[in-house]
Amino acid sequence: MLNTVRSATRMDGVQAPIIPVVGDIIRQVPGTISLGQGIVHYGPPPEAVAAVRDALSDPTAHEYAGGTGHPELVHRVSRKLAEENGIAVARGSAIMVTAGANMAFMHAVLATTAPGDEVILPLPFYFNHEMAIEMAGCRAVRVPTDERYQLRLDAIRAAITDRTRAVVTISPNNPSGAVLSESSLREVNTLCRDRGLFHIADEPYEYFTYGAARHVSPGSFAGAAPHTISIYSLSKAYGFAGWRIGYVVYPEHLESAMMKSQDTILICPTIAAQEAAAAALDVGRAYCEPHVRALAEIRDIVVARLGELGPLATVPAADGAFYCLLKVHTDLEPLALAERLIREHKVAVIPGTAFGMTEGCYFRVAYGALQKATVAEGIGRLVGGLRAILQEM
Ligand SMILES: Cc1ncc(COP(=O)(O)O)c(C=O)c1O
Repeated sequence: MLNTVRSATRMDGVQAPIIPVVGDIIRQVPGTISLGQGIVHYGPPPEAVAAVRDALSDPTAHEYAGGTGHPELVHRVSRKLAEENGIAVARGSAIMVTAGANMAFMHAVLATTAPGDEVILPLPFYFNHEMAIEMAGCRAVRVPTDERYQLRLDAIRAAITDRTRAVVTISPNNPSGAVLSESSLREVNTLCRDRGLFHIADEPYEYFTYGAARHVSPGSFAGAAPHTISIYSLSKAYGFAGWRIGYVVYPEHLESAMMKSQDTILICPTIAAQEAAAAALDVGRAYCEPHVRALAEIRDIVVARLGELGPLATVPAADGAFYCLLKVHTDLEPLALAERLIREHKVAVIPGTAFGMTEGCYFRVAYGALQKATVAEGIGRLVGGLRAILQEM
């Protein structure tokens, strides 16, 4: 008789990625406009593509390399952090290039926690953060934010226990689009310092702010370096998602732990992708600025059209990233409603439950991946679909 290996594993309690679930339903309904995936509609700068071509003829690009990242790329990252983020990577901090921000976060969790520890995630959170924390054998502690998805220091303070190791902030936020206020980030950073916790600041949308909103990096605050882990990504800014390059600045005392994780999970980031990243950083932030301006116009359309839902829904200000988090005033179950929107109205959004918003019916609306006219059409379907479904009840 065949012996089947079946036992409980660490993955059993971890939520399944939501994007493929919604993707499966979308595939069954041709013509659906997806306001689901969090990607941009543009690709990398041509200079980055040329750098990959050059790298392919370099024999060393096919070998293993150092785990912290190609020295030239690390040098450019260090210059960028000093010039744009106000983070001086001097003695006391270290940079590591990773296969995207997700991997940087996983390393950070593994390097700062022991099984059974707690990590505080203000709501709404990015689902892969919760998943990483749970896979590490830790507990993700959800804390409420205010009605604009801004941090509530009282709630964070109240959630701290003897097992707490870190507080995570994401600004600009996925999935809410909120740009967290500088004062609240300062308060969290100081609280972490005073209570001996790490502040993990995930900043992949640093360039995506609109109107008067400004991004600020907690790693730049005075005295932040010894307890702040700052995570960045090229995925969004440079249309680089498939090349898997991000980087993390962390306190040097975590170096051995970070390197153990990097060496085991990745060994080194793909060399050709690192060459591409160095070329992209040379082009710099100017590359994505026209795209951000175009997204600002799209965002205005999204906010104005969603406003037409009136009493049926609430959409707090979303001054960053390319998301907003819509609260629909209904008792319907979010995934069931999302499925009806796809099947009956050919528009897809992501249920807020994946982001920890389990009290009420929330949807993340993503507008970065499509052209303006398509987003406008998609939002029209969403507004029309929600009206039709909610008003028939
Ligand atoms: C908040 C946040 N962190 C990390 C990531 C993952 O970025 P990367 O592609 O660099 O792994 C995303 C992607 O959507 C994100 O929204």
